[in-house]
Amino acid sequence: MPGARFTDIRRFDTIDSTNRYLLDQARAGAPDGVVAVADHQSAGRGRLGRRWEAPAGANLLVSVLLRPELPAPLRHLAPAVVALAAAEAAETVAGLVLGIKWPNDLLGSDGRKVAGVLAEGDLAGGEGGPGSAAGGRPAVVVGIGINVNWPAEDGDLPDDLVGTATSLRQEAGHPVDRWEVLDALLTALEPRLSDLGTVPGRARQAEDLRRRCTTLGTPVRVQLADSGFEGIAVDVTAEGHLVVDTGGEFRTVLAGDVVHVRRST
Ligand code: BTN
Repeated sequence: MPGARFTDIRRFDTIDSTNRYLLDQARAGAPDGVVAVADHQSAGRGRLGRRWEAPAGANLLVSVLLRPELPAPLRHLAPAVVALAAAEAAETVAGLVLGIKWPNDLLGSDGRKVAGVLAEGDLAGGEGGPGSAAGGRPAVVVGIGINVNWPAEDGDLPDDLVGTATSLRQEAGHPVDRWEVLDALLTALEPRLSDLGTVPGRARQAEDLRRRCTTLGTPVRVQLADSGFEGIAVDVTAEGHLVVDTGGEFRTVLAGDVVHVRRST
């Protein structure tokens, strides 16, 4: 069982969305560290308003309510450490070395997606986020969907996901216990979250992100809300930002500003 932070783990057979649930809990003043995990979500949320679907009981669908000790411009580090903890869990439980597509998608050996992270709540603003008056520091709900046992093979996937999604099971070549993955994830997350409270700790986490980041060295197209540009991703800064060499200049990209980063060739 993971340490002191994650003692309140709420398990659901079916729920609309574990992120929605914890955002409501945060607004009502729930403290840092509450975890919600579901066998099935009827309205699982993905990034950019997409749905996140998985067959009941196959994958890990989990959210954590965090009130991190982070200045507002650095709150994107909360989802980053969840992605890092998930990568560590995949290594502990299944011996897999996963990459991270900046800022926080987990990828298998051939670049197919194993897990996605969705952070919601008070990511950008100062005070006044979900339950900040009732619950202390502003809340960030970080949800992660890890493809643990689905897809078991490429043939399981709907047409739009063929060639883009894989699972721990496919990568490892055998079924993987999702509760072991959850336990390892929460165990790995605890010290990473503690690191976020100090400048050297944040630099350590950013360095871990840099080491896992498969985006580095690749040509990318960065899509911002109202513009975009292309270049080569060359570094991750000590604050977790991506540096892109556009040929003429080095541009620093903030996770909170980006719509998506795609390979450009
Ligand atoms: C993505 O689009 O890559 C992010 C997907 C995040 C899915 C997870 S599953 C648990 C949590 N609850 C949700 O409704 N979404 C996140």
